[in-house]
Amino acid sequence: MIQGKKIVLGVSGGIAAYKAVELLRLLVREKAEVFVVMSANAGKFITPLTFESLSGNPVYQEVFGEQSSASMPHIRAAENADLLVVAPATAGSIGKMANGLADDALSNLYLAFRGPVLIAPAMNDGMYLNPAVQENISRMKERGVEFIDPEEGELACGTVGQGRLAEPSRILRAVQTRIAGKEDLTGLKILVTAGPTQEPLDPVRYITNPSSGKMGYAVARQASLRGAEVTLISGPTHLKPPAGVKTFRCKQAGEMLALVKEHFPDCDVLVMVAAVGDFQPDTVQKEKIKKKGETLALKLIPTPDILLEASKTKARQMVIGFAAESQNVVQSAQEKLKRKNLDLIVANDISAPGIGFQSDSNQVTLIDKEGTINSLPRLSKQEIADVLLDRIKANEENKL
Ligand code: C5P
Repeated sequence: MIQGKKIVLGVSGGIAAYKAVELLRLLVREKAEVFVVMSANAGKFITPLTFESLSGNPVYQEVFGEQSSASMPHIRAAENADLLVVAPATAGSIGKMANGLADDALSNLYLAFRGPVLIAPAMNDGMYLNPAVQENISRMKERGVEFIDPEEGELACGTVGQGRLAEPSRILRAVQTRIAGKEDLTGLKILVTAGPTQEPLDPVRYITNPSSGKMGYAVARQASLRGAEVTLISGPTHLKPPAGVKTFRCKQAGEMLALVKEHFPDCDVLVMVAAVGDFQPDTVQKEKIKKKGETLALKLIPTPDILLEASKTKARQMVIGFAAESQNVVQSAQEKLKRKNLDLIVANDISAPGIGFQSDSNQVTLIDKEGTINSLPRLSKQEIADVLLDRIKANEENKL
């Protein structure tokens, strides 16, 4: 329910600005009180009058104009609103927000705003995939900003790719979820593991896998945003710990096991997203192994199965595993669910191109111990995290 909620709609200067009108209509239809803030360039695509008429509120567009005083009531109201949604967000506006630059009404308001922020990017696909833009997006995500990924399709520049503004109905849903679900996991203690493990061979070499940690970090971030008390145990990744999440770092499976054992008894839910390596060298050489021009035979022994160990001591906890499979996805995941005594398993097909490891999106199937199978479409890892958290919430409600 967003009825009566104060929402700021930030509009930046891209061809998709006209879709902000549709979003505004949807928000107003749901009886939210909407304040529109425009970037300097947004006015080149659409006039403030349109937004003013539809929202019934003055539009904040000029920092140094007639309405420039920061004490103006509607600017104050905007700063104290329940949520800021920027749609469309151009590469330029994202760059400014990520770097703390303030030179127009939208970038000023973003810096002053203290509440939750949703960003729906829209731009040419080349721009969207540019590492500078992706880095800016990652930095903002690490600070707790939520993104509604652009869709693939025909772009204004004539090419086809990822960059189309998400449909206004999808943005509305994200706004509703964020406002309604703001605190829906309050009181729940969630333990999440993420990233790969590293098993050393000698001081400079190790065995690892390409897990980026993005899925586990998304679960931890969304759970924390939804009010849960979150502990994250992370293998080596380049990601920053999400705001408000107690994070412990480790490298080897053995270290991760020790941390999970320490924190498991006190949690309500364990979400084991980490891609734990299955093998470790039987001995770690103290000195760097010399290259002698001959074959090097390694003896590998199994790592401890953390999930199995944890579920052996399971009391009231809900235990969730992940399964990356390259064949017989559902059947193999079901077998793991039983063997590891899990409540739910999230399976994905790692042979499918463009999803899974490293990527920002994935296509997964949720299988629970009752045998229910729910195949999700391709979604961002953040959206998958929210679906998983909805299942966790439903499970908690059933216990009552
Ligand atoms: O058996 P498999 O490695 O495919 O199982 C995947 C699930 O088990 C994941 O949730 C992973 O985090 C967990 N796992 C574990 N300890 C291991 C290997 C996997 O907890 N040694």
